[in-house]
Amino acid sequence: MSPTTTTALAWIERWDRQQDSALPDRETLFTVITDAVASAVGRPDPIVIDLACGPGSLGARIHRRLPAARIIGVDADPVLLDLARAAHDFEFVDHNLDDPEWVAALHLSEPADAIVSTTALHWLRTNTLARVYTEAATLLRPGGLLLNGDDMIAASPVIDRLDLEITRRRMEHAQPADDWQTWWTEIEADPELATATADRRTRTWHRPETHEPPLDLHLNLLREAGFRDVGQIWQYGRSRVIAAIKSP
Ligand SMILES: C[S@@+](CC[C@H](N)C(=O)[O-])C[C@H]1O[C@@H](n2cnc3c(N)ncnc32)[C@H](O)[C@@H]1O
Repeated sequence: MSPTTTTALAWIERWDRQQDSALPDRETLFTVITDAVASAVGRPDPIVIDLACGPGSLGARIHRRLPAARIIGVDADPVLLDLARAAHDFEFVDHNLDDPEWVAALHLSEPADAIVSTTALHWLRTNTLARVYTEAATLLRPGGLLLNGDDMIAASPVIDRLDLEITRRRMEHAQPADDWQTWWTEIEADPELATATADRRTRTWHRPETHEPPLDLHLNLLREAGFRDVGQIWQYGRSRVIAAIKSP
């Protein structure tokens, strides 16, 4: 059994509020990524891959901006993918990024124009993150763009403390919402998601408790993966968007 579109949209709205309450300016982060994709790809119908897409929140915003884009979300969570498929009119692939076969599972016959991700790649171990960046570089066309929006730690502990304080102050004004655990407890009780919930219980994947790779580590891994121009394009506290362009 799969959820209706109405049910899926309601859960995704609660997901977005839950995520907004933990991340300063998440909607701005989406806008930055969407604007960067729209301005850099140079065509109205780019191929865009969203890594660890969850219920498709970022893809939905890119789809609204570029309705002719081919958007492919990849994730390993059957509940979030069930919501995404019921709510959105683009493609989703059920695959764990820990397994390099995720690239083949996309069944792409031409290179991608952009690869994006939000608040997800910190779940990956460093060696997996390095491999995923290298795989992303192989999937992109020359001049293609990778954009990652996530929490990343500044090199200086003093600056990082400032970043954390800026975030803490901002979050004092966040709208009240479910926390992560409440959202999951309640969705697991929804009979429309029972099949996906049962599937989710059979899966295991790595989720470190406190792993936020430093900004410099991301930028170095991207350079090693073959991206020529890499850098930060947006920041609020620890929350950042980094961009990497594949050599033309
Ligand atoms: C905090 S959520 C963010 C989801 C979405 N990108 C968003 O911004 O709403 C983290 C996502 O990463 C996905 N994820 C974590 N590790 C993964 C892996 N190894 N392979 C695929 N997806 C993974 C989770 O299933 C989850 O959907």
